[in-house]
Amino acid sequence: MGGTNPYIEQAQYKTATKKFKVKFLPEGKIVEVDPEKLPYGHDGLPGSLLDIATGFHMGLDHACGGVCACSTCHVIVHEGLESCNEATDAEFDQLDEAPGLTAKSRLGCQCVPDGTSDMVVEIPEWNRNFAKEREH
Ligand code: FES
Repeated sequence: MGGTNPYIEQAQYKTATKKFKVKFLPEGKIVEVDPEKLPYGHDGLPGSLLDIATGFHMGLDHACGGVCACSTCHVIVHEGLESCNEATDAEFDQLDEAPGLTAKSRLGCQCVPDGTSDMVVEIPEWNRNFAKEREH
């Protein structure tokens, strides 16, 4: 994990215990999340949508490194939102700054699926960062 923000309420979450799939829009790429491989990286809560997106090089921007201090990791969860932790007030505060906010919006770094449902997640056009996330 990239770190935590000591000035906010910490999110309560439990990570997945079984494999599940996430379809990332608009490309439609489907990835399978293996709980035994979590966390995939260092940014965002372990097992968060940001962690998954960076692990599979989906190009989700994350300017603050995943500590709930920006809104560049804004995603829209079209399916599977019920399998995710509840958003904190701090997350809602950051989401208020996000362009294109919807009722299904979450911060990718704070939204942790528990694996009980497959998911469909859209990365808004303005939060896609393919320059930083290429596979090596
Ligand atoms: S990366 Fe900044 S709030 Fe998620």
